[in-house]
This record gives sequence, C-alpha cells and structure tokens, in this order.
Amino acid sequence: MDALVSSLPAVVEIVTKPYFFPTLTLTILLIFYLLQQKKWAYLKSYVKLPPFDRGLPFVGHAIGFGKHPLQYADQMYQKYGPVYTLEVLGKRLTFLVGPEAQEPFFAGTDLEMDQDEPYSFAVPLFGPGVVYDVPLEVRQQQLKFLRAALRSEIMKTYVSPIIFEAKNYFNKWGNSGVVVLRDELARLIILTASRALMGDDVRERLSGQVAELFQSLDEGLTTITMFWRDAPIPAHRRRDAARIEMCNLFSKIIEERRANPDIKHEDALQSFMEQKYKDGRKMSNSELAGMMIAMLFAGQHTSSVTSSWTGLFLLNHPEHLKRVLAEQEENRKKYGEDLTYEALKDMPFLHACLLEALRLHPPIIFLMRKLMVDKEICGYTVPKGDTLFTSPALSGRKSPNWSNPDKYDPDRWLAPREEDKAVKFGFIGFGGGRHVCLGEQFGYLQVKTIWATLFRNFTFEMVDPFPEPDYSALVVGPKACRVRFTRK
Ligand code: HEM
Repeated sequence: MDALVSSLPAVVEIVTKPYFFPTLTLTILLIFYLLQQKKWAYLKSYVKLPPFDRGLPFVGHAIGFGKHPLQYADQMYQKYGPVYTLEVLGKRLTFLVGPEAQEPFFAGTDLEMDQDEPYSFAVPLFGPGVVYDVPLEVRQQQLKFLRAALRSEIMKTYVSPIIFEAKNYFNKWGNSGVVVLRDELARLIILTASRALMGDDVRERLSGQVAELFQSLDEGLTTITMFWRDAPIPAHRRRDAARIEMCNLFSKIIEERRANPDIKHEDALQSFMEQKYKDGRKMSNSELAGMMIAMLFAGQHTSSVTSSWTGLFLLNHPEHLKRVLAEQEENRKKYGEDLTYEALKDMPFLHACLLEALRLHPPIIFLMRKLMVDKEICGYTVPKGDTLFTSPALSGRKSPNWSNPDKYDPDRWLAPREEDKAVKFGFIGFGGGRHVCLGEQFGYLQVKTIWATLFRNFTFEMVDPFPEPDYSALVVGPKACRVRFTRK
C-alpha cells in the first residue's frame, strides 16, 4: 500500500505530460484497428499479411468491384501481385491469382476451406436439407450421390437423349433465319439436361411446366440475392413459389416410379432414388427434388455459355472452323451419319476449341471459400475468416503456362504443346481438387453434340460483331449476338 502511495506522484507526472493522452488515444485506436482487421496475429508474432487495400470509407471496393469485377480484380493483381486483400462492405476478400496462389485453395480440406457461407445464396433455390444447407458430413454424402449420377459408365446412356433433343430442336429452326445463339442454346440445354438427367417422364411434363418453373428459379437469383437471399422482393417470391411447385412435380414422378418398380429408368433421378445415406436412410422427396434442381442449376448456364462461346469463336476464326468441319467429315466416314458416344469422344479438335473458349471466357469467373484457419499462401499468412476468391477467368490468361494468352489458339491444348499440363491448377475452368466439377464429361457431351449437329446441318455467319462478355450476370456469358443460319 505504501509503495502504491509513494509511486503516485510519478504516475501523476506521466499522466499530466502533454503527450500522454494523444499517445494513449493512438495506442487504443491502433489496437482497435488491428482487431477489426483481424491483424491480431501481428501482435502475437511478426507474420506477413497479404497486401491490404481498404478502399473508400464504409463501402470499401464495392463500387469498383461491383461494376467490373474481373477487370477490377485484374487491376489489383497488377498492383499487388498474386495474393491481396480488398475490403468490400466491411468484409475482407482475399484474391489468389495464378497456380501457386490457387494451389492451397484447391488442395485444402473442407474444414479449412468452407463453401457453405459463400454459396449460401443458393439455399433458397435448392431448398432446405440439401448441399449448402446441411452439415458437412451430410453434404459429402450428397456429393457422393451426385458423383454416382454423373459417373462415366452412366454417361453413355445420356448421349441418345441429348442427341434426340438437339436434333428435334434444330429441326424446328426452318431453312434459314437469324438467331441470338446464346438464347437459343440456353433454351435447348434445359431440354437436353432434363431428358438425360431426369428421364422421359419428367421431360414429357417439361413443355408445360418445368422449363417455366426453372426460369422463375433462375430469375430469383439476382445481385440482391448475393447479399440478402430472402429479401422480400417479387423475384424471390416467384422463386420460392416455383421451388415448391417443382418439388410437387418431382414428388408426383417419384411416387409414380415407386409405384411401378418394374419399369426401368436409367437417369440421375433414378440413381438418386437408389442411393442411401450411411445410416441406411434414402433421400426424402424434398431432398430428391433439391438435388435435381441443384444439378440442373450447376449444368445449365455453364454448359449453355460454353456452347455459345465455342460456336462464336469458331465463326470468328474461319481457319479453325475449316478444321472442325473437316474433322466432322472424317468422323462421319468413320462412325456413320448418326452421332454416338464413341463418335463424340473422337473429335479432338472440336474438343480443343471448346477448352480454348472455356479458357478465354469461363462462365464461372470467381470461385469462393471461407477460410476457417490461418493459412500460409505464397509467403503470406492469410488470416482465418477471410473470404478467398480464385478466378478461372484470370487464371485462363495470367497463368504462366499459356503462351500468348489473349490469342484464341486451340492448338495449345493438343500434343505436342499441351500447355494446360505444364502446371498444376493452371487451368481451373472446371475448378480443381476435391470440388472439381462433377459434370465435366456431361458438359463436353452437350457442347459437342450441339456443334456436331449444327455444323453437319447448317452454315453460319455472324450478323453482329464478336460480343463482349456480359458481366452483369452471375454466370458470365456473351452479350446478345445474332448469327444467320442456312440449312445445308
Ligand atoms: C462447361 C460446363 C461446366 C463448367 C464450365 C463447370 C464449371 C464448374 C466449376 C468451376 C466448378 C467448381 C465450383 C467450386 O469449386 O466452387 C463446378 C462444380 C460442380 N459442377 Fe460444374 N461445370 C459445368 C458443367 C456441369 C454440369 C453439366 C453439371 C451437372 C450436370 C455440373 C455439376 C457440378 C457439380 C455438382 C459441382 C460441385 C462439385 C463439388 O462441390 O464437389 N457441372 N463446375
């Protein structure tokens, strides 16, 4: 007590010094700032955080990033390098550009790299109890069910429904006309995917209902949804009503199938109906419907956008189109007039053209994860809680494996160049690691069926100039561009 009393004059002397209160205020502000920025690690040890750009007060980089997301992320990459953090509406977004920075994103476990939070906007679309609305352990089992429904052995059975729908669709085009390719192919893909994945019984009801319901679901995915998934707006109300109706429709079909077990079905719906969770339980009708919607969604815009760019690039590059047409002629001679699984697999140049379109204009421009642990990336410590972004679009142009990256050059995919094989995670158009796209093979079959059918039956010419990507959409496709077709 005596010691305390005797030290009092010294304390009073310090406190009354003119620099005391400014210093104290600055120290408190610094601690507050570090805590807010989750830079607490700085106080524990001298870790190196990625370059951080706070942007404007309150909004951070929301305006620039919201307006031109890809261009903005690219500018920041030029400024800061492969790992950098931007503040957007109070959130820390850490961008990883190039194979070395992307590697931990794809190699990390689900416990380290969480998908739930960044993709939670999809929950009202797919419905409760599936994919991003369930604990990790359940999601992993559901992904296993998806993998089974899209496994390579079952893929063969999907070919004839895809071909059937494509032929049917293009037969209705007439002898000549002008179409917006992007819109036509989007309409076709919902038909091909539905017949192949959901079977004839769903497809037969499609013309009346499913396509319309899918459209309402699709329109329910707006920019607002990304921030407030249940905002009370008309688009969300229509989305919710459409999902309930879609569930009812699927329930009817599921019940019919259960009541007629002798009728054989080889499609994804049937595959889902037969799967069991580890505890022996089968999926409920609502889960089955949710899984079907999730699968349709994952494959719809991705495949239609890739189909559109594949064709548009070829129409814009007659020298490559000539080679595709010659390959089709060869293929016809070898396999006959009708397309088959084997014939579709044997179109290496068309395949390279598809991949090159996907490299230059991938439909999914950003992949996201929430980081659940502090992670060393390219010599930086990225703190737990950051939302990580990788970009198939930036990777397609910035990875060092691509020679002359802005050039449309399908040969880069073929031997002897095979530039995609030069580095791991250089090409991430289908993602990578444990969450690599499960529908890659299905996507190839769709795109190649469409263009093999079109090139065998029609000639084309561009009406509008080669389009820019439309970054206002969540899945980025070409802006509307008309082409003229003439039946051969
Ligand atoms: C050209 C067409 C396609 C492209 C470019 C594409 C692209 C992608 C990408 C980039 C991912 C990774 C997402 C992430 O890591 O966050 C992904 C995942 C996925 N894709 Fe695709 N996709 C295509 C077609 C399809 C199709 C046709 C289906 C189904 C019929 C499908 C089903 C899936 C599923 C289920 C996942 C989630 C895998 C997981 O989380 O483990 N995709 N896709």
